[in-house]
Amino acid sequence: MNIKQVTSIYFSPTGNTKIATELIAGQICAGFACLDLTDAKKRPEYHFTENEIVVAGVPVYGGRVPKTAAERLRKIHGRQTPAVLVVTYGNRAYEDALLELKDILSEQGFRPAAAVAAPAEHNIIRSIATGRPDTQDKNRLLRFGQEIKEKFALWKSNYQVGQLDLPGNRPYREYAGVPLKIKVGASCNDCKTCIRKCPVQAISRTDPRVTDTQRCIVCMRCVKECPEKARKINKLVLLAVRQGLKATCSNRKEPELVFARTKEA
Ligand SMILES: Cc1cc2nc3c(=O)[nH]c(=O)nc-3n(C[C@H](O)[C@H](O)[C@H](O)COP(=O)(O)O)c2cc1C
Repeated sequence: MNIKQVTSIYFSPTGNTKIATELIAGQICAGFACLDLTDAKKRPEYHFTENEIVVAGVPVYGGRVPKTAAERLRKIHGRQTPAVLVVTYGNRAYEDALLELKDILSEQGFRPAAAVAAPAEHNIIRSIATGRPDTQDKNRLLRFGQEIKEKFALWKSNYQVGQLDLPGNRPYREYAGVPLKIKVGASCNDCKTCIRKCPVQAISRTDPRVTDTQRCIVCMRCVKECPEKARKINKLVLLAVRQGLKATCSNRKEPELVFARTKEA
């Protein structure tokens, strides 16, 4: 393995996954490249060689890889390219997401070598895991990055990347989206930031008050990016969701790292 380039690839509507993915990629190689899959723009097919490493990150939606992220990852092709998988989740659970990410990347020609699951602020219920990844998480992710770099050095000399065993089940759990609607308040001044930022072009090009609920994936990007804080989910609805999540989300979960087995070259 003679690594020439490390690329951080991510789908990250509210930025948590970007942070985690880049912290890890930066430890493997300070001059890493970036491929951001979040915007709703047309992209070519991307090809990576066996002499590169990709660090690929997605958020967890309903214990799965978001459908939009999966579609975009299917335009990326490896040639036995080693891959580090990263998921961020809102301190509830990541369920089948890492396994699904591994399956997608394997089908695309990558060799999953390590996987990280990192708790982060829940971007719908922001009172869950507020401010995470925090300093403790970031230090842990930096350490993971170092450990991954050392493992790649070992694999480079005498050994090879073997099987990566991850938690999760096939068939993956069902996820049909969350039944939440984003409301637009009177402070909207038509700046159109939300239209530009929406990862799935769900907001009308002419009127930001109109959202196509069939297209909207409730990724919370428009809510986060709105300079006027005009976009919100109804407070009572959020309170009910929070109540439902309370039992599973209240204990602090920690970032996890799993390596593929090492096999003799
Ligand atoms: C539609 C949706 C579904 C989510 N489902 C889960 C989930 O199943 N488990 C969990 O712990 N967090 C869940 N979250 C929280 C996100 O995974 C978490 O906030 C993530 O870090 C967001 O990543 P981003 O900032 O890169 O967009 C969900 C968030 C959204 C928007």
